[in-house]
Amino acid sequence: MTDPILAQMAAHRTVRAFLPDPVPTGDIRRVVSAAQMAATSSWIQAYSLLQVTRPAERAALSELAGNQAQVRDAGAFFVVLADTRRHRRIQTERGKPYAHNLEVFLTASIDASLFAQNVQLGFEALGYGTCCIGALRNDVQAVCKVLELPEGVYPLFGLCVGRPAADPGLRPRLATETVWFEDRYPSDDTLREQVREADALAAPYYAERGQSGRDWSGAMARRFDHLERTPLRGDYEAQGASFE
Ligand SMILES: Cc1cc2nc3c(=O)[nH]c(=O)nc-3n(C[C@H](O)[C@H](O)[C@H](O)COP(=O)(O)O)c2cc1C
Repeated sequence: MTDPILAQMAAHRTVRAFLPDPVPTGDIRRVVSAAQMAATSSWIQAYSLLQVTRPAERAALSELAGNQAQVRDAGAFFVVLADTRRHRRIQTERGKPYAHNLEVFLTASIDASLFAQNVQLGFEALGYGTCCIGALRNDVQAVCKVLELPEGVYPLFGLCVGRPAADPGLRPRLATETVWFEDRYPSDDTLREQVREADALAAPYYAERGQSGRDWSGAMARRFDHLERTPLRGDYEAQGASFE
């Protein structure tokens, strides 16, 4: 028998077109409270989920995210925050220094990402479609300004949630044996073979969308021949992060 949680995970697809129906508060509360049980480094719970309800702010964030309409149009829109502010406040109120470095930033980002994955899966389990919005990092300082985020609170990505307007279908993944191996990392020859396999696995996906001839490795070659979002380090430092 298929486990319902594994089946839900395997059915994930990003939805970018939404019906206008709002997402009831009761559903959000159920999903967020379950998602909070994600594992958290040293119990620090270094994350928050900011729901953006004001249309003008959603429009501003949509524009900052490269005019992605779903930021404005989805039933609900959230910003996933790596949140160190509670810890800072504890230290301030106890008159203690707040010690932080790259480890603290990474730990908060990992905590927030594990929580966010649970949130995404939780909404999908209730029949909603979701879309992460990494493009909020196009201009982190502008996002912080729109949302008036205080020091120590770092927007990582957005999350659109709503009733899907259409089914976008599944995007294939690398072969399981490509991402799961025992004891030692595979040789470069094995990697080359696995990349060929990945291109073959992606071919039907491209063909169905009228993009025959494209392949996964070509997409990666285009993605990694230049840097993106080079101001990020300064943006997060301006928000209070340390990368020491
Ligand atoms: C952190 C993160 C940021 C993303 N940012 C965007 C985005 O800005 N816009 C978008 O349309 N999709 C975005 N996506 C969705 C990915 O493009 C998508 O998950 C990936 O192509 C795999 O497709 P699938 O989710 O349909 O399986 C993002 C996904 C993640 C995990």
